[in-house]
Amino acid sequence: MNLRKSLKKRVAKVKYPLKTYRPEKKQRPENMIEVKSAWIGLELIIEDILDRFDINREKCIEFGTEFCYSTVVFSNFFDSVRGIDLFTGDVHSGQKADHYEDTSGSVAHFKNISLIQSDYRDYIKKDDEQYDFAHVDIIHSCKETYECGAWAVKHSKCCIFHDTESFPEVRRAVYDLAKDHGKTAYNYPYHKGLGIIV
Ligand SMILES: C[S@@+](CC[C@H](N)C(=O)[O-])C[C@H]1O[C@@H](n2cnc3c(N)ncnc32)[C@H](O)[C@@H]1O
Repeated sequence: MNLRKSLKKRVAKVKYPLKTYRPEKKQRPENMIEVKSAWIGLELIIEDILDRFDINREKCIEFGTEFCYSTVVFSNFFDSVRGIDLFTGDVHSGQKADHYEDTSGSVAHFKNISLIQSDYRDYIKKDDEQYDFAHVDIIHSCKETYECGAWAVKHSKCCIFHDTESFPEVRRAVYDLAKDHGKTAYNYPYHKGLGIIV
């Protein structure tokens, strides 16, 4: 890692302090898929988060599914999981050819997952439902994470954000969202970092 990037991360930790999340138990969900993902490892603490904050297990929404690693993890815990993605990548996760059809096919046997190909900006204009749980893992800029996260925080009881450790802009968005919505923000500092707003 270059010096400038590592300095930015250290500054972000001081400027945007988040309570450290300490799981009491770690458990591997029964159903998993083998795809490339920076999310690997976080599946172990999802049940702990749901139990800690007394989250219902009905409806989950995710922005940024990519190849559905995290989507399938959530499908272990919720009656329905809705995943929104462009399915063409972004500057941080890498631009790709449209993989909506292939990815949909690869998770078709998980009957509680439904995937929607959309920009989050278009999607949030049309959906006013409430969810038990939300996950934001889109392009890792502060503006987009904050904008998508603001909708997710308003439409769910608990919202999690990936990459708080690897992207200072995501950490900043989590800090600002919790402050602006009168909520509490935690951070689990492993596997690139998971912000939790409740
Ligand atoms: C880091 S990946 C998600 C990783 C995934 N959660 C996992 O478990 O591996 C980010 C995804 O966000 C999607 N994305 C980026 N900007 C978006 C936008 N404006 N609207 C919807 N999806 C977006 C990209 O297409 C990409 O698939």
